[in-house]
Amino acid sequence: MTGRAFAKKGDAVNVSAQQVAGSAVDGVIEDIGLYRQVLGAFMTGVTVITTLDQEGRQRGITANSFTSVSLDPPLVLFCVDYRAASYETFQNAEGFVVHILGSEQQELARTFASKSEQKFAGITTAPGVSGAPILPGVHGWLDCTLHDVVIAGDHAIVIGEVQRYSAEPARPLGFYQGRFFGFNNDQEIGSLIPHSAPIAVGWMMQSQGGAIVAARTESGFALPSSRLRANQIHSEALIAEAGSLFDTLASVEFLYSVYEGGNDQLSLVYRGQVFADAAEIEKAGFVCLDPGRVDPAAFTRPGEAAVVGRYLEELVGERFGVYAGTLAEGSIARVADVAADTRSNDDNE
Ligand SMILES: Cc1cc2nc3c(=O)[nH]c(=O)nc-3n(C[C@H](O)[C@H](O)[C@H](O)COP(=O)(O)O)c2cc1C
Repeated sequence: MTGRAFAKKGDAVNVSAQQVAGSAVDGVIEDIGLYRQVLGAFMTGVTVITTLDQEGRQRGITANSFTSVSLDPPLVLFCVDYRAASYETFQNAEGFVVHILGSEQQELARTFASKSEQKFAGITTAPGVSGAPILPGVHGWLDCTLHDVVIAGDHAIVIGEVQRYSAEPARPLGFYQGRFFGFNNDQEIGSLIPHSAPIAVGWMMQSQGGAIVAARTESGFALPSSRLRANQIHSEALIAEAGSLFDTLASVEFLYSVYEGGNDQLSLVYRGQVFADAAEIEKAGFVCLDPGRVDPAAFTRPGEAAVVGRYLEELVGERFGVYAGTLAEGSIARVADVAADTRSNDDNE
């Protein structure tokens, strides 16, 4: 194939003072460093793709070339480098499993990007439809049978048909300009908080069955709460705190309310989910309330009746706002279709 130059250095293209343009002539990239920089400017997620080789051994690579191709039939692809030890394996496999990594899984990404013979050491896997191993604890996975392989230059495009899939709530792992990064910015507000005193964190959580999770008090109910320091107000620490409070897996989806109460006390309320049913939640010392029958006035701690009342109203259409202010007054910023945002991880078109 002949590479067609669209611009050469010095050509009259719209390039600002800081930018330079490179070109490809007859398939040869003129400035490989610049070319890599351009490709690296495309931010991606990170996957680990696993399969079985013909001897039945588990194989896997880290790949960011994954993308969705077709919804009907459900096809996805990734590209494998001819220099990868598993290049032939993926082309001859019956199938593969794509694992979408969460922000805390950089170590896993590094392991599967290595040439180690022990990539699966210490990991308990489950077999996918083709026998390819499914890794535990990932953001999501797609279990595929091999659909087609197309050789393209120094890579093979491996196309799979999705047979089964699963998603777990998590923050995704990203890759940009050769580095991993997490998507925690919306929750890493701790660094912006001047308070040195512990911060009151309330949990506006729902159980697996949709019940509102509350703590019983002498005068009624309260939101489950924790006292955290500013440096603990980021997603990993919040998820860990919620998990230990409810004694099970919990997700922390977004900041729902922030207000200053009396005595210069800052209160944050996070919305999330407890992945347990009412019986398990009650074992952890909390109660589950039917959202259709809860009386917000039963939440007697300052500010909480208003938080719960607004939550119950907004829950109907799942269109949430974020409150910021004091106990007496504040404003609500709409969260653009939070429901869609927290659920859409199925396609990237
Ligand atoms: C973030 C990231 C993304 C990667 N994406 C790909 C990819 O899409 N395709 C590929 O062949 N290698 C990719 N690699 C490199 C492979 O993971 C690496 O070459 C690995 O050692 C291959 O394993 P193997 O030689 O055991 O088959 C990527 C590495 C990193 C760190």
